Amino acid sequence: MASATKKPAAQKTTAQKVGARPTAKAPAKKKATKDTTATKKSARGTTKASPATATAMKKATKDTAATQKSARVMTKATATKATATKATATKATATKATATKATATARAGGRRDATLLSTASEVQGRMLAARARGLTVGFVPTMGALHAGHAALFEEARRRADIVVVSIFVNPKQFGPKEDLSRYPRPLADDLALCARCGVDYVFHPSLDELYPAGFDTKLVAGALAADLEGAARPGHFDGVLTVVNLLLSIVQPHFAVFGEKDYQQLQLVRRMVADLRMPVEIVPMPVVRDIDGLALSSRNAYLSAEDRKKATCVYRALVAGQDAVQRGETDPGAIATVARGVVRAVDGVEVAYAAVRDGRSLKAIDKLEQPGRLLLAVKLGGVRLIDNGPLFPDARWKP
Ligand code: PAJ
Repeated sequence: MASATKKPAAQKTTAQKVGARPTAKAPAKKKATKDTTATKKSARGTTKASPATATAMKKATKDTAATQKSARVMTKATATKATATKATATKATATKATATKATATARAGGRRDATLLSTASEVQGRMLAARARGLTVGFVPTMGALHAGHAALFEEARRRADIVVVSIFVNPKQFGPKEDLSRYPRPLADDLALCARCGVDYVFHPSLDELYPAGFDTKLVAGALAADLEGAARPGHFDGVLTVVNLLLSIVQPHFAVFGEKDYQQLQLVRRMVADLRMPVEIVPMPVVRDIDGLALSSRNAYLSAEDRKKATCVYRALVAGQDAVQRGETDPGAIATVARGVVRAVDGVEVAYAAVRDGRSLKAIDKLEQPGRLLLAVKLGGVRLIDNGPLFPDARWKP
């Protein structure tokens, strides 16, 4: 922790002004409270698309079928918006449109620039100084290729904190040897514009050597929570995730960090790590943000061909079918999973990697759905692996 006591003034200056945000001071300090409100925004486990998605929707093409599906997909407000715009949007369009809008708004509004930092010591120094002044620091770790799903996390952090820090770092330690590390998209300019649009104060964008300098030799090993689902399919993946998240948290030292339920197993593992290691940080979950036809936004959607993009909607339809089975009174996890699997299998060329009903926190297998559970799905199509999940509420009072 020696570096934690360094004064910002003594540090190497790598800050650059990027993008923009309002000159008006951030909202008055809000206490980072334990909050499941975001999770409760929709019993389908879906949040309304952020303004980023809305922007993209306006630019996108008309698609009535998708619009009809959206009523099942989005929260009521979003479904209404979707119907009004009668549009669908690809992830790429969403990101591009948002970035463009961000730049335009930034220029027009005379906003204050966000600051790009590339060294750990500078980030740590600034955040410690901010904390010493009584300011609340919120953090969102990402790998970039930002879309409206990320934007929802930034906006939540903005609502809760005085200072919002986003990290953009494609972490090699969480990619397997045959995974897409080299082709992982890195559209930094667009990413910075989106951060600016969302009122992010600092973007931490370290080099590989900065985060893992020569001699770096520490690794966190995920426990039983990582034993199956994504952990089984991607050996070592969660060790890499926990190692980098732990490192980023100790650099940024935020009061809270926001994670998406899109990566549900990752979220539970991070929660577990924070509890096990008594880390003084609150983990704030955010519901999955979906495209208008239900597909969960993901950087990897960009790899899908137009045809596969359409087929990919079966993942969301499978989740909804599972949720509907529960609403009809089904409590057998195997039967619920079979319903979901059936929806995916009905689509040519889409392979189910897993469809599992689990306890919502421990992700352990359950005999009967008596408490809120989670339906988790992974599919493969056209060489792309997609994951998604949604809540299962056995009690009719939870009905959307
Ligand atoms: P990345 O895939 O960039 O995701 C960053 C955060 O955004 C994660 O918490 C993820 O769950 C959330 N997210 C992505 N798509 C979302 C969506 N459609 N709706 C809601 N949230 C969404 O997850 C990682 O990066 C990395 O593993 C990281 C935690 C940064 C460690 O390297």
